[in-house]
Amino acid sequence: MCGIIGFVGKKSAAPILLEGLRRLEYRGYDSAGVALLDEGSVLIRKKKGKIDEGLARLLKSEPVAGNLGIGHTRWATHGVPSDKNSHPHLDQSGKIAVVHNGVIENYDALKQRLLKAGHTFKSDTDTEVLAHLIGVHYEKRHGQNGKNGGENPLTQAVCDALREVIGTYGLAVICAGQPGTIVGARRGSPLIIGIGTGENFLASDANAIVAHTKKVVYLSDYDVATVTSDRFDVLNLGTDTATVQISNLEFSQEDAARGRHAHFMLKEIYEQPRAIENALRGRVDAEGATAKFGGLNMSVSEMRSIDRIVIAASGTSWHAALVGEYLIEELAQIPVEVEFAHEFCYRNCPLEKNTVLLVLSQSGETADTLAALREAKRRGHRALAIVNVVGSTIARESDGGIYMHAGPEIGVASTKAFVSTLAVLSLLAVHLGRMRNLPARRALEILHALEAVPKQIESLLTQNNSLKKIAKKYAKAEDFFFLGRGYTFPIALEGALKLKEISYIHAEGYSAAEMKHGPIALIDKNTPTVFLVPQDSMYDKTMANLAMIRARQGPIIALATEGDQAIKKVANDVIYLPKALEPIYPIIATVPLQLFAYHIAAARGCDVDKPRNLAKSVTVE
Ligand code: F6R
Repeated sequence: MCGIIGFVGKKSAAPILLEGLRRLEYRGYDSAGVALLDEGSVLIRKKKGKIDEGLARLLKSEPVAGNLGIGHTRWATHGVPSDKNSHPHLDQSGKIAVVHNGVIENYDALKQRLLKAGHTFKSDTDTEVLAHLIGVHYEKRHGQNGKNGGENPLTQAVCDALREVIGTYGLAVICAGQPGTIVGARRGSPLIIGIGTGENFLASDANAIVAHTKKVVYLSDYDVATVTSDRFDVLNLGTDTATVQISNLEFSQEDAARGRHAHFMLKEIYEQPRAIENALRGRVDAEGATAKFGGLNMSVSEMRSIDRIVIAASGTSWHAALVGEYLIEELAQIPVEVEFAHEFCYRNCPLEKNTVLLVLSQSGETADTLAALREAKRRGHRALAIVNVVGSTIARESDGGIYMHAGPEIGVASTKAFVSTLAVLSLLAVHLGRMRNLPARRALEILHALEAVPKQIESLLTQNNSLKKIAKKYAKAEDFFFLGRGYTFPIALEGALKLKEISYIHAEGYSAAEMKHGPIALIDKNTPTVFLVPQDSMYDKTMANLAMIRARQGPIIALATEGDQAIKKVANDVIYLPKALEPIYPIIATVPLQLFAYHIAAARGCDVDKPRNLAKSVTVE
C-alpha cells in the first residue's frame, strides 16, 4: 500500500526521495509525488502512474533543488488515482505539505467545517483535509511565537490537528516557515526514523532507507517525531513521553535487491532453502527431541495449560494457519480453530480461559490481523505472533512470538514467508507436542525431516525448466482448479491464490473430496486441475477423486511422489515431489506451485511483482 520517505541533510533531497520511492514500489501504488523545501518555498512534483513514466520524467523536465523533502507512493482509498489526488497535498496557504498513509475517518466532517471557514480543496482526498487542518493550527501556534515551552510550532500544529482526527495515519509534514524540520506521526500505519550522520530519514518501510542507514527507531502509535539533520525528538500524544529505542536493521540493501533474477518473486522462490534454514537455525533441540524458542515469553506450565489455540491471519498467511491446525492438532493434540483475522474481530467468538490467540503475518502490519491481535488482548487472552518483519507493529504488540527470519519479501505474492511460516509452525507443533504426549521418536522424525527440506527444495528448483514447459502448455486456460486432501488441502488453496493473483486467471482451490458435492459441474476439457496427490495416508482416496475429474475429460497436472508410476497413466502431466513425511509435504508441494504460477503469469506478460490492484502490506481494514 502507500509508502512514505522523508529526508533532511546536506545532500540534494530529490534523488534520495526518488530512489526511496522506487524501493517502495513493491508495496503497490498508483501514483507518486515529492515535496521539497527550497529557498523558503514548498515545491511539489507529483504524477499518476508508475514512477519511471510519471514522477521520474517530471522531475527530469522540472527539477527541484533542496536538502529536505518528503515523498509518497499512493494506493487510492479516497478519490480515484489521478495527478490531483496524488500526494503530497498542500494546506490552504500552500506553505505546508503533507504525505499520509491510512484513512482519516472523520475527514468529511472536518472538510465541511473548513469549507465553511472559506477553505478550498483541489483533490478528493482525506489527506488534503488533514493538510488544511494542520495549516489552521499552524497559523495559531506560529502566532503564539513559541509561548508553549518554545517547541516547534509545526510539531505543535500537527499534534493539535491529530487530536481532532479519527482514523489511522503514518504521515510526514514539512513547512516553508520551518526550514530544516520534518514532522512525522503514526497511528495504525508504520513509520520509522532512520538515523544517519548529519542526515536523518523518515520512512514507512525500512526498505526505503536501508541503503543509507541501518540505525532506526520504530515509532509507536500516537508518537510524533520532529526530525532535523542532526537530531530527532519524539513525544507521544497519549502519554507525552515516548519510549525511544534505537534498533539495527538485520538486512542489507543487497537483500532487498532483485539480483540476477527477472523478478523478486522468482528470487524469493529460489531463496526458500535459505529461508527454511534460517527458520530452523538454533531452534532444533535434538537432545531433548524438541524445538526451542527464545521469545514466546511463556513458562512451561503456561504452555502446558493451553487448552485451545485460535490462529488468525489473512490471505496466504491464512493458508499457513490451516496447515498449522493440522500440525498442532496431530502432534500436540490441542484443538485449533482457524479464523480469517477480519471475521475474528467482529463476531463474538467464544474464547475459553486458556485459549491463546496466534497470529501469522509476513509484514506484521496487516490491519485485519493487527485488529485480531488487539481484540484478543482486549479480552484478556495471551496473543502470540509468527512474523517476518522485525520491529513491525504486530511483532511489538504481541505478548510473545517467533520471527521467521526469511529476510525482506518484496514480491507482492508471498512465497518464502509462507514456507517459513510452515517451518516455524512445524517446530511449534513439536514444541507443544513434547510437553504433552508426542513421543521423542516421532518428534525427532519430524525435526530431521524439516532439516532435510532445504536440500529437497533445491532439488525441486532444478525442475524449473520442465515446470516452465508445463506452465506454458496451460498458460491460455481461463479457469483452473487446485485440489488436495489432508495436509495438502491448504496448499491447493495457496496454489490457486498464487495463480489468480499474479496471472489473473480464475482459479479455485478445493478439497479434492468436496468437488463431487457441486464444483465438479464446472469440469470440462478446457478446465485444467492441479491435483496434489503425494503418497500419504489419503493417496487412495485422492486417486479416486482424481478419476472423477478424468472421467469428465478435465486435463490433470499431478503433483505426485517420485516413483509413483500409476499417476502417469491418469494425469496429463506429472511433477514429482521428493518422498517426505506427511506433515512436511505442505512445504515441499508449495514450491512447484509457486513456479507454475510464476511461469504462467510471465508467459501471459503479467507484471509478476506488482500485480494489478494488489498491495504488499494491507494496512487498511
Ligand atoms: C498473497 C499475499 C497476501 C498476504 C496477506 C497477509 O500472496 O501475500 O494474501 O498473505 O495480505 O499479509 P501478511 O502475511 O503480511 O499479514
